[in-house]
Amino acid sequence: MSDYLKTRALMARGSEFLGSEWAILCGAMSWVSERNLVSAISNAGGFGVIACGAMTPDLLDAEITGTKALTGKPFGVNLITMHPQLFDLIEICGKHKVGHVVLAGGIPPKGSVEAIKKSGAKVICFAPTLALGKKLLRSGADALVIEGMEAGGHIGPVSTSVLAQEILPELAADKLVFVAGGIGNGAMIAAYLEMGACGVQLGTRFACASESIAHPDFKKAFFRASARDAVTSVQVDARLPVIPVRALKNKGTDEFTAKQIEVARLLDAGKIEMGEAQLQIEHFWAGALRRAVIDGDVENGSMMAGQSVGMVSAEEPVAEIFATLLGECEAALAQRRAA
Ligand SMILES: Cc1cc2nc3c(=O)[nH]c(=O)nc-3n(C[C@H](O)[C@H](O)[C@H](O)COP(=O)(O)O)c2cc1C
Repeated sequence: MSDYLKTRALMARGSEFLGSEWAILCGAMSWVSERNLVSAISNAGGFGVIACGAMTPDLLDAEITGTKALTGKPFGVNLITMHPQLFDLIEICGKHKVGHVVLAGGIPPKGSVEAIKKSGAKVICFAPTLALGKKLLRSGADALVIEGMEAGGHIGPVSTSVLAQEILPELAADKLVFVAGGIGNGAMIAAYLEMGACGVQLGTRFACASESIAHPDFKKAFFRASARDAVTSVQVDARLPVIPVRALKNKGTDEFTAKQIEVARLLDAGKIEMGEAQLQIEHFWAGALRRAVIDGDVENGSMMAGQSVGMVSAEEPVAEIFATLLGECEAALAQRRAA
């Protein structure tokens, strides 16, 4: 049992691809997924991913160097497709011979997948639909992550369970598909592996690990929260688009709704131009994730969290979280196979 043989067998394709013992990625979380958490995940046998977010190429360079100093195991880098220096960031990954680059935040711009592959790295992309998943694979993606709206952070409109039913039967036999969003227990990992996933990606479950540098108040808010506290951002006016983000509701989320109403009224009254109005909405959360994660401002910061936050109740070392998840996964597989 302690070797988790059934889990190991179902994760074999994913583990081989990642070069890690377990096909469990810790999804990149801006400000949270830095050298300490990333190396702890990889050292525990999982696959850590640095969240580049808005980092400059120099900062990413330093973060990769810092991570390498803490682990000899493989880890990846998550790059946001709309970063203005995306190609410079790809070059930094190439310089460090990073094995896997995850492209997040939309369809990869022309030439980006090719540039990553030229550096020798594997490319992992997010597939929001089956059709796009197929297209990304045709364009050179080596593996896909399908992420449902239960997840923390920026989300799409469809749940993980529906994405899994739509995409896994079509692609998972021949292609590498990791499932993300709403996974807090190993039994859920077992279920997606049995449906053909080659592995999984979790974020929320790892955000408050002992090795995470998140502020103690950020962690406390996670421990107190239940699934229903992790809500999606609300858009109040069709003219003022809001990218959906799942986060713990707080004073900031209430004020965001109030801000949108105020800006919409100014628009109606002709006191403000459309461009300025949209900018005000866009800028509302600027720096807000940092305020929450680093400064511990749990009232005004952006407390990005998935619905699985209800299953996070105490600070634990990454290795213990892995042991729990793997034990639960193995037990679920053993139970079903014995039945
Ligand atoms: C605090 C936080 C920050 C995140 N930041 C990013 C990010 O910068 N880039 C990204 O691709 N995903 C980001 N995510 C999503 C995670 O990488 C991961 O896919 C997601 O958390 C998985 O769903 P789960 O939260 O239900 O486990 C973030 C999630 C959280 C909770």
